[in-house]
Amino acid sequence: MMVTISLIKADIGSVGGHIMASNEILNLCKERLEEEKGKLLIDFYVTRCGDDVELLMTHENGVDAKEIHELAWNTFKEGAELAKEQGLYGAGQDLLSDAFSGNVRGMGPGICEMEFEERPAEVFIAFMADKTEASAFNLPLYEIFANPFSTAGLVLDPKLHDGFKFEVHDVKGSRKIMFDTPEESYDLLSLIGLTDIYAIKRVYKKSGEIAAVASTEKVNLIAGRYVGKDDPAMLVRAQSGFPATGEVLDPFARPFLIAGWMRGSHRGPLMPVSEKDANPSRFDGPPRIIALAFSIKNGKLTGPVDCFADVSFDEARRKVNELADYMRRHGPFQPHLLPPGEMEYTTLPQVIKKLQDRFEEI
Ligand code: F6R
Ligand code: MG
Ligand code: MG
Repeated sequence: MMVTISLIKADIGSVGGHIMASNEILNLCKERLEEEKGKLLIDFYVTRCGDDVELLMTHENGVDAKEIHELAWNTFKEGAELAKEQGLYGAGQDLLSDAFSGNVRGMGPGICEMEFEERPAEVFIAFMADKTEASAFNLPLYEIFANPFSTAGLVLDPKLHDGFKFEVHDVKGSRKIMFDTPEESYDLLSLIGLTDIYAIKRVYKKSGEIAAVASTEKVNLIAGRYVGKDDPAMLVRAQSGFPATGEVLDPFARPFLIAGWMRGSHRGPLMPVSEKDANPSRFDGPPRIIALAFSIKNGKLTGPVDCFADVSFDEARRKVNELADYMRRHGPFQPHLLPPGEMEYTTLPQVIKKLQDRFEEI
């Protein structure tokens, strides 16, 4: 059957700072989605990564379905009201509008959705990150679908040997471009390495079948001023014609630096953690990512497996802590601090304005 998976997320308020969405909010979201199970939804899973609430829903309405987006929007709105009642921090921060207009795109929440014909044993992994940005997935997505030193199947499995297609978005210029790999790997890398401009939105098999989708919404660009973070989510299909689950996860065992730590203005390492450890506390971080693997049959979910809870990611966490110390050593200096254009939250324009008259010609 054709099934759609929609993963829609928003920061609607959190406990003790920007650390974690409250259990009460999660329970409310579960109740609202439960009411639609067997009606609008086939199945769902509600969780959080740090301060972001994540609604994973399966249904038959296709991507961009008004009724699904409306359900997510109304659930977030109600959650934000509860967050206000609880006095949670940043209550409703990612909900940029009062009224729903048919689609949550451009209204604050992050969205990733895919529709496909279910395989007899369909596997997908939902990734959710906090204190980072959409293009944080550029490096791992390249490794998963185009780097044979990471994904053995690109060399060994005839079903992967043809390579994949990458859809890359210019998140500042509202343009997109497609690349074939391995043929155009170097052209692809020349863009996706520029993480402040380009983000991988989707990956397809050469046959056109969807393999992965990431949320690329930039809340601060939508609002034109700092209102929230673009903490992204991503769905990746695995096994039998796609990279194996273990190949999808492996890039996260080699920590890399991303933008979005403290005030969305610092670079730091991305830490793979279990659902229960997704509580970025040190310097509002280090940035976190969780990975939940599901099986799905006729839209019904089994699982998840909390993949990064595995002890094989212990060493990555240790390295991230070491890298975090090293980056923190730079305090207000680059490259820990992001360049002006990349900072999400800054008083710099006010400081520069104050000092304007004191600058002299050299
Ligand atoms: C939010 C985030 C945090 C905040 C910081 C300051 O997800 O990234 O690091 O930017 O805690 O928050 P305010 O300005 O709300 O006190
Ligand atoms: Mg927040
Ligand atoms: Mg967040």
